[in-house]
Amino acid sequence: MAGGAHIETGGRHYEGEVTAFVLITCFVAAMGGLLFGYDLGITGGVTSMEPFLVKFFPTVYKQMLDDSSTNQYCKFDNQLLTLFTSSLYLAALIASFFAATTSRMFGRKPSMFLGGLFFLIGALLNGLAVNVEMLIIGRIFLGFGVGYCNQSVPIYLSEMAPAKIRGALNIGFQMMITLGILGANLINYATSRHKNGWRVSLGLGAVPAILLCVGSLCLEETPNSLIERGQHVKAKTMLQKVRGTNNVDEEYQDLVDASEAASKVENPWKNITQRKYRPQLTFCSLIPFFQQLTGINVIMFYAPVLFTILGFGNDASLMSAVITGGVNVLATFVSVFCVDKFGRRILFLEGGIQMLVCQIVVGVMIGLKFGLNGQGSFNKGEADILLVFICLYVAAFAWSWGPLGWLVPSEICSLEIRAAGQAINVAVNMFFTFGIGQIFLSLLCHLKFGLFFFFGAWVLVMTIFIAFLLPETKNVPVEEMNYVWKSHWFWNKYIPDDSVPPAYNSSKAAP
Ligand code: BGC
Repeated sequence: MAGGAHIETGGRHYEGEVTAFVLITCFVAAMGGLLFGYDLGITGGVTSMEPFLVKFFPTVYKQMLDDSSTNQYCKFDNQLLTLFTSSLYLAALIASFFAATTSRMFGRKPSMFLGGLFFLIGALLNGLAVNVEMLIIGRIFLGFGVGYCNQSVPIYLSEMAPAKIRGALNIGFQMMITLGILGANLINYATSRHKNGWRVSLGLGAVPAILLCVGSLCLEETPNSLIERGQHVKAKTMLQKVRGTNNVDEEYQDLVDASEAASKVENPWKNITQRKYRPQLTFCSLIPFFQQLTGINVIMFYAPVLFTILGFGNDASLMSAVITGGVNVLATFVSVFCVDKFGRRILFLEGGIQMLVCQIVVGVMIGLKFGLNGQGSFNKGEADILLVFICLYVAAFAWSWGPLGWLVPSEICSLEIRAAGQAINVAVNMFFTFGIGQIFLSLLCHLKFGLFFFFGAWVLVMTIFIAFLLPETKNVPVEEMNYVWKSHWFWNKYIPDDSVPPAYNSSKAAP
């Protein structure tokens, strides 16, 4: 869950049902995910459109035309072009800290509204851009929008959702990210033939932004946020409305207790560094780091560029990006259905092995064709095989590190460290999204086909890390999570004896 903090129910079943109100919150969350996904998907296609390159990055374009016979690996290595792609994530990282304060002091709604508004300004600036400066400033606004959305929408969603569908909603957010990416790929495919198509692609980001702005104005504030800001009577009425029943006393009291306990923590940042929270600190930092080191955003940002380099025609390269985008959406369903049934570990491990195999195959194929000097091309059959392996890689990510990269950090933190844990998760994720976006084209130029082995090596490391260090957290109530750590061969020494709940059945917690 991106930037989300959720209030757990202690494994109890509160009265209430899935109301229409809750479904509207899903819609708003969907808008937040769509904004993020739309941007992830639109950028790669736009940066491979000829009129766009001619207008804003003529040196890259000239290099492409002049150097048709030279090193394919270094064709697109241009710092300004990468700055255009990755500036957004740095802006999002910074904005997520401001968003946390806005959400706490003024509520989730104003944060969502601001997220939509920033994104809208960014989309308009980009769609109407007349120079690179306007383009990059617009992108920074888009980044502010993503930062605010990723911080506030999931929190809003988690706080509104009844416990029994919270897990599904968690992955629902990722689902919307993937739909945003696919939608953007399709739009790019349609606009790429037109001279000013890039303006349409970039400008259309305004649509989900407007929907989010309007949606956030129409929705009510969460009970948790109302309690946090002292509006107790309104909070209880709201909870009754959300749950569709007047009998919400137990849940309401738990929210008040959780809010009081959380408000006693004076410094959550210091808190999470305590020895007993070492597992949470480790996973909240390393899971987003590893998620980005799978190399997924090389495909998400640069698929059309990558496919162009690999010899697919311009149209074919965008079409291939649409195919990988579709695989991303479909494979996310696999995790929705498997995550609570088979658990997190099996998805992580299977996904890791599948990604590694695909990276080795792609690296070897490119190495054999393009060698060290980057000269060569694929015939149709070879290009198709390559596409299949890239799709298998995307599918593996989409049912493992994609959704679990947001889910696991959000479910292992108890309330007193949840805000800090989530902030670390979002910040690390954005930082490495930025980093990979910034250095990928240089890495490709220098590591050549070895780039795929570079990411493959990281996938091997993270898979071993999960195999040995991540206990299974499926169906474990958050407040009983300590037992999971306590019964783990490595983490047990960090957990004080008195923090283990006696009633927990040890057989559930084995990794
Ligand atoms: C990641 C993004 C990635 C997307 C792909 C998300 O979970 O955080 O960086 O682009 O998945 O679907």
